[in-house]
Amino acid sequence: MKNLFLLGMGILACLLGACKQTPKEKANDSGKEIVSGAVWNDTDGAYINAHGGGILSYGGKYYWFGEHRPDKGFSTKVGVNCYSSDDLCNWKYEGVALPVSEKAGDDIEVGCIMERPKVIYNEQTKKFVMWFHLELKDKGYAAARAAVAVSDTPAGPYHFVRSGRVNPGIYPQNMTAEEQNMDWNQDKYKEWWTPEWYEAVNKGMFVKRDLLDGQMSRDMTLFVDDDGKAYHIYSSEENLTLQIAELSDDYQSHSGKYIRIFPGGHNEAPTIFKHDGMYWMVTSGCTGWDPNEARMFSAPSIWGPWEQHPSPMEGKEAKKTFGGQSTYILPFGDNQYLFMADIWKPDSLMYSAYIWLPIQFDKEGMPFIEWKDSWKLDIG
Ligand code: GAL
Repeated sequence: MKNLFLLGMGILACLLGACKQTPKEKANDSGKEIVSGAVWNDTDGAYINAHGGGILSYGGKYYWFGEHRPDKGFSTKVGVNCYSSDDLCNWKYEGVALPVSEKAGDDIEVGCIMERPKVIYNEQTKKFVMWFHLELKDKGYAAARAAVAVSDTPAGPYHFVRSGRVNPGIYPQNMTAEEQNMDWNQDKYKEWWTPEWYEAVNKGMFVKRDLLDGQMSRDMTLFVDDDGKAYHIYSSEENLTLQIAELSDDYQSHSGKYIRIFPGGHNEAPTIFKHDGMYWMVTSGCTGWDPNEARMFSAPSIWGPWEQHPSPMEGKEAKKTFGGQSTYILPFGDNQYLFMADIWKPDSLMYSAYIWLPIQFDKEGMPFIEWKDSWKLDIG
């Protein structure tokens, strides 16, 4: 009888939605615990749909922007979502910061693909500037464009400005005159991964191919340096090479100054932070929605020289980045850094889960990111 009563209560609890309660919600009861690997709910109890995201810290609040992904299917039906928080733990839904357009032929028409949105604040113009990776409707991943939108308020609405390839007609700063003058017969390099092909990629074959229309731009992040200069870091050249491009003073276009790093290295999902004057980048390899081993790089200047280190991940499933792929690193509190990643669920991208872990430093000052089932986030 008692068992029957408990079963009845269990079924009732399920109907009321209690069975859907995630570890995150429970953790929230105690205040500021982060439970990675779970789906998270907002302050209304609705699922947080903000993938490939990034966080803007502004006016004592945090704004989390991310891809709204559908339950089924792939392309963007809603736009870029925004949530706000005082403590990085309890997130209030602010609505769609940048909606897709209903007008056929628009760059961001419904059915396009909007990925990895990031927002930065421009002190001079007092505008909030969003960049994201855009693929045009029905064109798969061929467009490889960077897109920009602006707003007067952090949560939006953002107004779409333009999209396109990056820095048309301009060579990267670190491409030699000899490389710029090379004439590649693309037909000779149709087969990928051969030693000749590698050499051609290294010397900028794809930069040259795309010179007039501009460089390809897919997975991306933004970074604002201490001097207010902002940078767009993106997977370019068929996802083979990372490029770092300086933005104009208003952050709404590229200044024309850019470099390529790790040609042929196949880095995606770039994230970056600066600690004690050193720039650290964490990226993923290139295996679509499947997780792979993260990579880490450092440089004394944004313009390099960049040096590669072993993956910073430690603990459970470290070799697969805990099942996730990097998306952003947020500096917060007193010299603390939050590593954010997505566990993609291609069968229902909407329910892709989140990983948020603190970045720690070893005795030599080398960053590492250790798996934690849950941890207390103290914004200081
Ligand atoms: C991943 C990339 C994601 C998304 C996906 C599409 O490699 O990091 O942002 O583009 O591929 O397959």
